[in-house]
Amino acid sequence: MDGFLPYGGAVYADGRMLAASEGAVGLIRINQPEKHNAMSVAMWQGLAEILDAFEQDPAIRAVLLAGAGGRAFCSGADISQFDAERSDANAQQDYERRTRAGRLRLGGFTKPVIAAISGYCLGGGLALAMHTDLRLADATATFGIPAARLGIAYAFPLVQKLIGLVGPGQARRLLYGGERIDAAEALRIGLVEQVVADGALDATARDLARRIAGNAPLSVRAAKLAVDAAEQDAARRDEAAVERAIAACFDSEDYREGRAAFAAKRLPRFAGR
Ligand code: COA
Repeated sequence: MDGFLPYGGAVYADGRMLAASEGAVGLIRINQPEKHNAMSVAMWQGLAEILDAFEQDPAIRAVLLAGAGGRAFCSGADISQFDAERSDANAQQDYERRTRAGRLRLGGFTKPVIAAISGYCLGGGLALAMHTDLRLADATATFGIPAARLGIAYAFPLVQKLIGLVGPGQARRLLYGGERIDAAEALRIGLVEQVVADGALDATARDLARRIAGNAPLSVRAAKLAVDAAEQDAARRDEAAVERAIAACFDSEDYREGRAAFAAKRLPRFAGR
């Protein structure tokens, strides 16, 4: 994500989180490279603020999340804050509450988010990646959950998310052993959707984001709602909301535009309504 701030960027969490937009694509960069982009409490809060801004901006139709510095996507929670912020179970509850905002915003975000993963993607960094819609990695990417090596534990919703992606067996392997796996292995077990050649990650991720952003926003939204709902417990999912989102597509101006563009053999121009 070179040339980031020239695209009208904004700075959050004292510059540790950066946001910008490029056409219909919102760009987020985790920017603490001297700590391999470890996430502090303020950075989780910054992420929530950026997502709020992108959610409210109708011009943004897809979001790309990456780490700065080229050596890490994110090395997890900022361990230097653990003594002050996470010293026991009580403190952990408060820490969880303050950092949850970012994860919840990502979970409830209505536009697709793509993670472009280069280098370390560990612990809370992997949790962050797991909460995006699509994970692209290059061959330098390394994945792992070091919680058991630190004497802490992954939160239950994160374990559920992990099992949803890789199944209980591979989840146990990652959680119990704390081993790190490479991009090819991450692809094999379903932790990432695509691995691209070194040097091609940024362009491939941007192309994908642009392609999604060029499609009918209501169709993409309905697809996202449907997949997210299918991932949830049947008792908790809002199937009616999925049905409404699907129906909205068939009543939309964009559906008319899609048909007209097909008939005229031209590219559609979707308005998101
Ligand atoms: N939180 C805070 N600081 C971190 C960090 C984290 N999650 N990950 C790395 N850093 C810091 C290191 O302490 C080091 O700081 P220093 O230069 O002041 O000593 C700096 O980033 C560079 O890390 P270093 O360990 O020297 O780099 P490396 O290439 O040898 O190893 C990692 C990189 C990511 C494998 C290693 O730093 C690591 O294991 N980090 C912790 C990962 C983790 O446990 N995450 C889960 C947290 S819940």
